[in-house]
Amino acid sequence: MKGRIAALWIAVAPFVLPVVLAGDASFGQACDQSHTHLDTNTWNLVTDCDATTWCADNSTCANKGCRKDIYPFGYNNVPFDKLPPLCPTGQFCPDEGSYCLPQEAVGDPCQKDRDDECQPPPNYKQLAGFLNVNGSICLNFTCFYANVTLGQNCKIDNTVYTAYTAAGSEYAFIVSRDNCANGLYCDGTALKCFRAKLEGAACAGNKECLTYNCQNNKCDRAAYEPIHPPAWVFVVVGLGIVALIVVTMVSLWFTHRRTRRENQVKLEQYYNEQIAYRQSIMTMSNAKKSLMSLPADTPADVARRSVFGDDYSSFMPPNMRREDSTAAWSSAASDVHLLEPNTTRRRI
Ligand SMILES: *[C@@H]1O[C@H](CO)[C@@H](O)[C@H](O)[C@H]1NC(C)=O
Ligand SMILES: *[C@@H]1O[C@H](CO)[C@@H](O)[C@H](O)[C@H]1NC(C)=O
Ligand SMILES: *[C@@H]1O[C@H](CO)[C@@H](O)[C@H](O)[C@H]1NC(C)=O
Ligand SMILES: *[C@@H]1O[C@H](CO)[C@@H](O)[C@H](O)[C@H]1NC(C)=O
Repeated sequence: MKGRIAALWIAVAPFVLPVVLAGDASFGQACDQSHTHLDTNTWNLVTDCDATTWCADNSTCANKGCRKDIYPFGYNNVPFDKLPPLCPTGQFCPDEGSYCLPQEAVGDPCQKDRDDECQPPPNYKQLAGFLNVNGSICLNFTCFYANVTLGQNCKIDNTVYTAYTAAGSEYAFIVSRDNCANGLYCDGTALKCFRAKLEGAACAGNKECLTYNCQNNKCDRAAYEPIHPPAWVFVVVGLGIVALIVVTMVSLWFTHRRTRRENQVKLEQYYNEQIAYRQSIMTMSNAKKSLMSLPADTPADVARRSVFGDDYSSFMPPNMRREDSTAAWSSAASDVHLLEPNTTRRRI
């Protein structure tokens, strides 16, 4: 259990340490400026005060007077317009968050990796790049211009971060920064600027590649570069979509055709029944008319013949058909004389 907690601690340490090590003294409480230092694993500034205050000169925690991030840490329930202000161009907010200060000139001190604390060079548009801020760079806590040209002497600032593998073991992650101009890098042993390498060339660190991505000692494509699928992928995906549409339409067509046929059979049966029903009613009404017009004492079989003709028995329900219309209605007679149309006899 203890081991598991230790492993968990190592895994989350990089995220938790800045919060845990930052002091929890809130506004107005005492603090000691000599405790302010950089965390050795994360290079984060640590003070006695909490996230929204800084340790002022009178050794109490005072509210921060500026912020360096648009969305600063530690201001969860504060409305956006109540946050400490961002600093205007030409000024910077130090890591403590005390108040805005004017940018430093070349050679003056700056805080860890805070290139934006340094004044931009006059030709900052030319020198600006993704590894510096407006052409200035903070190396070893000193402001430089990133202006050193090919083959000239350069300065290096290697920072070792503690990184952790998924299994929890530590390893050193080194970020190497230098003041070479864009497209160049400062070689660690020669301390001179070299041309950065194209994709596929051998490398020993990210900074040696123009793409800033050295994978397995080879310059790989930039981490932010989007993947460009070849043309055939678009063709295959397009054909797949068309095929899916066609298959759906065809299967719907077959389903619909079957349903339509079934419905047609149902409709035909319905119409046949309706016609048969109508004919039965017509027959009944005709029979009534003809029977009523017969003389009063007409015998039954004569009356039937007048309606159905001589073989009237085939128009009668099966249990009323008799071979001989004069046979009497009795159980014995039924046994003998009552016939099914196809000669099979049925007992009632
Ligand atoms: C300490 O200094 C800060 C900022 O200068 C100020 O806001 C605060 O009132 C001071 N505290 C005392 C107790 O003087
Ligand atoms: C960089 O230069 C641009 C354009 O002049 C400016 O708006 C921006 O504030 C500068 N950044 C810093 C950190 O000075
Ligand atoms: C960093 O600067 C300090 C003093 O400012 C100096 O003693 C140290 O040698 C420098 N380190 C490197 C790697 O340049
Ligand atoms: C780079 O800037 C520094 C500081 O302004 C200057 O001394 C140096 O000559 C410049 N180097 C080049 C190659 O322009």
